[in-house]
Amino acid sequence: MEYWSILLSIVIGVISIYYLFKNFNFFKRNGIIHLPPLPLFGSTISMVFCRISFFDFMLKIYNCYPNAKYFGFYFTTTPVFLLRDLELIKTVLVKNFDAFPDRRGFADFNDPLFEKNLFSLHGEKWRNVRNLLSPSFTSSKMKMMFTLMSECAMNFAKFLSTLSADKGDINMKDVCSKYTTDVIATCAFGIKVNSMKYPTNKFYIYGKEATNSTGVLRSIKFFFLGAFPRLGRILNVKIMNDYVSDFFKDIIRTTIATRDAEHITRPDMLQLMMDIRGKEGRRELDIDDMTAQAFIFFLGGFETSSTAMCFAAHEIAANPEIQLKLQQEIDKVLEESNGEVSYEAINRLEYLDAVICEALRLYPPVAALERICEKTFELPSALPDQKPFIMKKGMLPVWIPVLAIHYDEKYYDNPEKFDPERCLNNKMHNSSSYMPFGSGPRMCIANRFAMLEVKVLLFHLLAQCELKSSVKTTSPIKFCKSFLRMMPENGFWLNIQRRKNMHSVQESTITDS
Ligand code: HEM
Repeated sequence: MEYWSILLSIVIGVISIYYLFKNFNFFKRNGIIHLPPLPLFGSTISMVFCRISFFDFMLKIYNCYPNAKYFGFYFTTTPVFLLRDLELIKTVLVKNFDAFPDRRGFADFNDPLFEKNLFSLHGEKWRNVRNLLSPSFTSSKMKMMFTLMSECAMNFAKFLSTLSADKGDINMKDVCSKYTTDVIATCAFGIKVNSMKYPTNKFYIYGKEATNSTGVLRSIKFFFLGAFPRLGRILNVKIMNDYVSDFFKDIIRTTIATRDAEHITRPDMLQLMMDIRGKEGRRELDIDDMTAQAFIFFLGGFETSSTAMCFAAHEIAANPEIQLKLQQEIDKVLEESNGEVSYEAINRLEYLDAVICEALRLYPPVAALERICEKTFELPSALPDQKPFIMKKGMLPVWIPVLAIHYDEKYYDNPEKFDPERCLNNKMHNSSSYMPFGSGPRMCIANRFAMLEVKVLLFHLLAQCELKSSVKTTSPIKFCKSFLRMMPENGFWLNIQRRKNMHSVQESTITDS
């Protein structure tokens, strides 16, 4: 018995050492400049032990080799190529997309809701689903969803503007997550919830549970599945509890059955997927597929959108002259439309657009993009004295450090300054150094939806409320050091009060309702 346990320990020990060290001299062996690794933690030990925020980590490593087109680093046990050169980045994301079509995504997360959705799908399966879903995100579809999200934003602003003055200190992450949940419920799952008024509704509670990436157990699971995906599958390690995924599947199943039985149609994402049924040449989606696609709004849209709203609100509160300019722009629309603001009118608000674009530059919710190599591709030499490197299929991920590029003085004057003026006249939209939604065929499918969701929220909020820093606000922001989180150290806190100079049209709308 003892003999067997010694043998088993040796086998486990050898396998662990093999896994921990198998890639550890990859960059050295291939003569590629790189950050030196430590076993298990790679180049990320200070981040894993919460000594540096993800934000500062990305800036720090980007600046290690300022003249290199790319260099290597080890994200825990995985060697990663970090690309710095914009021309090379364009080649990978756009020109040679067929060599780098996929990201690792959540494919190792052992759950159909994570594995089957657009973010994680690979190759032909990805192409089919992207083609199927793209028509759901055109301007005409956004116009339909505008009405649904406006209702959520009005509930949101009304709730905050009617709080008593002593309750004005607000945890913005909490309230923006509630708004985002309501938008997902109505636009993707086809049901209405009001999480500001009823914060214990199951949709909000389970949505929060599904997207929560904090907590020791969750972090260990993320780390484990990232480092040992195959072992995770064998041991059936899951990020999300089965009762949570069953809850979302049940909503989709029941809603489809009710709509079919009662011939109800509604302008939402679920309806668009239902309408594909029975159309010639279109692959039908089953309940698992539809739930996975509706669930993308949680995986792709929940954290990103609510984070973008919080950072934009933070900067608006910190810059009263910007807030005033925004309120004047908003009041003008209210005046012209007699309070009935349309989709077209919201999209004409240039300054609101510029404020959000600039917030996404300074605080891109997705700090780095990832691609994996599917076809042999020659990387040019990283520095003049180095050799080119041939990447082969399946070989290591490449990262595009969006956040650090947004802070590079080569591309932005005074990059740390929040300055919406630099985004006016759509200047950023065509710039290759601006990538909050990624770039190329694999860029965010929902960028229009996301911009609209943030605009609608800020429009109604600023029409009714004044945003100020609270005693709990940290300015300038110090980033939280929890593994991979993009938020201020003590959260997003603002003081929100009903506007004293609210436009009369708005005042009467609130009183009427
Ligand atoms: C401000 C909010 C958002 C930001 C900043 C954002 C950003 C991003 C980024 C950077 C990517 C990766 C792009 C690339 O690799 O080139 C991405 C992908 C994606 N996002 Fe968003 N996103 C936001 C909101 C949303 C929302 C609301 C949804 C809801 C449907 C969504 C769904 C997706 C999906 C499905 C993908 C994967 C696309 C594919 O692989 O084909 N995102 N997003």
